[in-house]
Parts: sequence; C-alpha cells; structure tokens
Amino acid sequence: MEWVYIKDLKDYVGKDVELRGWVRRKRSSGKISFIEMRDGSGFVQVVVEKSTVGDENFAQADKLRLEASFIVRGKVRTDERAPSGVELLASEVIPVQIPSEDFPIQKADHSIDFLMDNRHLWLRAKRQFHILKIRDAVIKAIRKFYWERDFVQVDTPIFTGAIGESAGNLFEIDYFDYGKVYLTQTGQLYLEAACMALGKVFNLGPTFRAEKSKTRRHLIEFWMNEAEVAYYEHEDNVRLQEDLVYYIVQYVLNNAYDDLVEIGRDVSKLEKVQKPFPRMTYTEAIEFLQKRGSDIKWGDDLGADEETILSKQFDSPVFITHYPRHAKAFYMQPDPSNPEVVLCDDLLASEGYGEIIGASQRIHDYDLMVERLEENNLPIDKYDWYLDLRKFGSVPHSGFGLGVERTIAWVAGLEHIREAIPFARTLYRVHP
Ligand code: 4AD
Ligand code: MG
Repeated sequence: MEWVYIKDLKDYVGKDVELRGWVRRKRSSGKISFIEMRDGSGFVQVVVEKSTVGDENFAQADKLRLEASFIVRGKVRTDERAPSGVELLASEVIPVQIPSEDFPIQKADHSIDFLMDNRHLWLRAKRQFHILKIRDAVIKAIRKFYWERDFVQVDTPIFTGAIGESAGNLFEIDYFDYGKVYLTQTGQLYLEAACMALGKVFNLGPTFRAEKSKTRRHLIEFWMNEAEVAYYEHEDNVRLQEDLVYYIVQYVLNNAYDDLVEIGRDVSKLEKVQKPFPRMTYTEAIEFLQKRGSDIKWGDDLGADEETILSKQFDSPVFITHYPRHAKAFYMQPDPSNPEVVLCDDLLASEGYGEIIGASQRIHDYDLMVERLEENNLPIDKYDWYLDLRKFGSVPHSGFGLGVERTIAWVAGLEHIREAIPFARTLYRVHP
C-alpha cells in the first residue's frame, strides 16, 4: 500500500493508502474511535470502527494515546465537515510507540516558561507547526527573490577577527593560538569583499549579539539575510529593500495563506502593503515625534518606543533615512549635501513591529574609512583586508541586513520573536 502524506490525501479519494504519524487527539467509544492524526504535513481525522478492523486491532488502536506514534492503512473518503475535506476509514492500525506517561503539553493555558522549557515537544502544537511553515515560506521567498535577480549566494563566516557592527555586544571565543575572535554580528564586511568579485551577492545565516535586552524583538542568536551590490548607491539600495520586502509579503500570501489564517493573522493588514513604501528622513521623524510629546533630541538613536509610534502611522513599512552619523556604524557613507548625516536607512515594519532592516551605502574612500575606524577606536590592523577593498578598484557600494525572525514575527503577527525561530536563544535561555 502506498505511503502518502496527509496534505496530498484529497488526490486519493476512494483509494487505499498508508499514513505514518502521531495522535494529536482521540475520542473513543466501545465501537468506534476518532483519532486526529498529524504527520508533519497536515492533520486528518482517522475513523477506526470495531466492525471494520476487528476486535483485536480495535483493542490495539484503543491503546493509542496523545502523541503516540502509529501507522494506519485505510480508505480515503470525502468528509464535508473536515477542514481538509477528507478523512480516513481505517482498515488496520499499527502502533509504533505508545508513551508510558502523559504528554506534558495538554492544556491550553500553560505558562510561556513551561512551553519554552518543553520547546522540543511544543513544536508539535498546531500553532507552532503553522508558524514554522510561515518561517519556511519567508526563507524560500528570500532565496527566490535573489536568485531570480541573478544575485550569487555567498556564505560568510561565523568566526570573525574584526568587529562587524559595534563593540558593545560581542561574543568572544578563544581561537587556538590566534587569541580572541568573535561570533559574527553581521556578514557585511565579507559581503563587501564578495560584491567586488561577484557584483550582486547575498547571504542568509545565523548572527550573534550579546545584547542584554529582554524585549519581544531581541534574540541572542538570530538569522540575518544580507545583500551587497557593487556600484549601488543609497537610492538603488532602498529600492532593492522595498522590492524584497514586498516580494516576501506577496510570496507568503500566495504560498502560506492558510497557515496565516490558522494562527489568526489578520491577513487584510498584509494585503494593504503597497509599493512604494513611505519614507521619512530621521530629522522629519524626530520632528514628528517631538510634536507628539516625545522628549527625543536630534542625535539620539530611535528606540523601540519611537519605532513603534512611527511604524503605526502607515499601512506599509516605512523607511527612515539619513540618520546622524554618530548614531550609526563606522562604515556608513556621509551624505555629500550634509556630512552630519549618513546615507542609510532603517525599515520599520507596520503595525508597530519596528526595525526589520538596517542598511547603508558604504564608505568607499580609503582615507575616510581609516578616519572612521580610528574615530570608533577599532584596531586598524584587524581591518587590513577590509581597507584593501578601498585600495584596489574601490567603487560606491551599498547593502543591508534583514532580520529574518523580526520579519517573520511581523508577517505572522506574532506577539514575541521567540516563536519565530525553532529554538530561541534569549538572555535566560539556551535549553533545550
Ligand atoms: O541593523 P543591524 O545591526 O545591521 C547590520 O548588522 C548591518 N551590518 C547589516 C548590513 O548592512 N549588511 O541588523 C540588521 C537587522 C536589524 O534591522 C534587525 O531586523 C535584525 O537584524 N536584528 C535583530 N533581530 C533579532 N534580535 C536581535 N538582537 C537583532 N539585532 C538586529
Ligand atoms: Mg539596526
């Protein structure tokens, strides 16, 4: 008998098939039991009738309990009431492993700490299943977007000798005789090297920030997608980000719509996302915030509260551009018309989600880069290779980093970023 996945069952109506999975729910009377089965592809009701499977097999099937693994053979039939439109009438039930204790996650109201302690089991919950499918769709969208545009994927290293973003939140590692190295905060510097070889490049991988922030937006280990393009200037960069984020939203709407609906996402909010995205300069944003009673001053970085206020103003994500150079990283290109600000942008996701992208045009002048490294007290010798890029055929170039989990949290409408990644690493959690 053919082993098939639940998601494909509607193509097998009237046929006999085999399913392999787990018990999600079960109710039983003396003569018939209804098992809600999951197999990693979907959910379906399995009907086990004593009169069909026989007394002995019915007794075996009756031993199945929550999260027991089992194989079932039977006939697929339509069921108008089922969300999938089909159910399986069992002809034979084969238990694989029956737990000897109760599955720890039973109730609807477990505390979040309890659920995170049991994350390895919580992943089996329906809501988590849908969220992980949305994550998968976001990641597929990202790769597809770049590959359709002839970008080359360049995988950047995790161990780095030079600080990529800021000295404040590094994880230091002892690296044999070399001494201290860091877990990467960003692959940007390496992508800058790669774009001089390959033109348009991107990466997608884990990054690390020893941030003591315990907010719904911060992870210690998170995935970033970065892109870097030789000869791109600020405006090209902003347009690329707009295209990417719009593409991700459309892809998820087209490929994971049911997953969004299943977790209660207000899909109409995503459907309102339109190009072009609104834009504000940093200076305009400060004036806007001050008018609304904020005591933020020009020169301060925007905090989470400010980002929330700004991103709630629009249906689409909003670009905040031209930040003061002192509020931003060392590598950003000053604006020729006002060198106090840099050619950069942050993209703030709508509905109050805040920053999902950090971006800029990079300094391509050798002397200016040396000056900025010194100003930031960064050790020039560790940046010898980075400076080489400004010595040998230097060109204007630009790029950005998109926080994958922040993007997922926004697209899926999650309250907290910890659900956007299979095993979250937060300030107080590396287990499981
Ligand atoms: O703004 P960031 O720090 O930018 C960079 O690292 C640049 N070097 C990227 C580049 O230009 N190639 O980080 C980029 C994005 C943020 O906008 C945010 O979405 C996400 O990474 N991010 C985090 N996500 C989860 N937890 C954290 N602690 C994050 N820190 C940054
Ligand atoms: Mg940033």
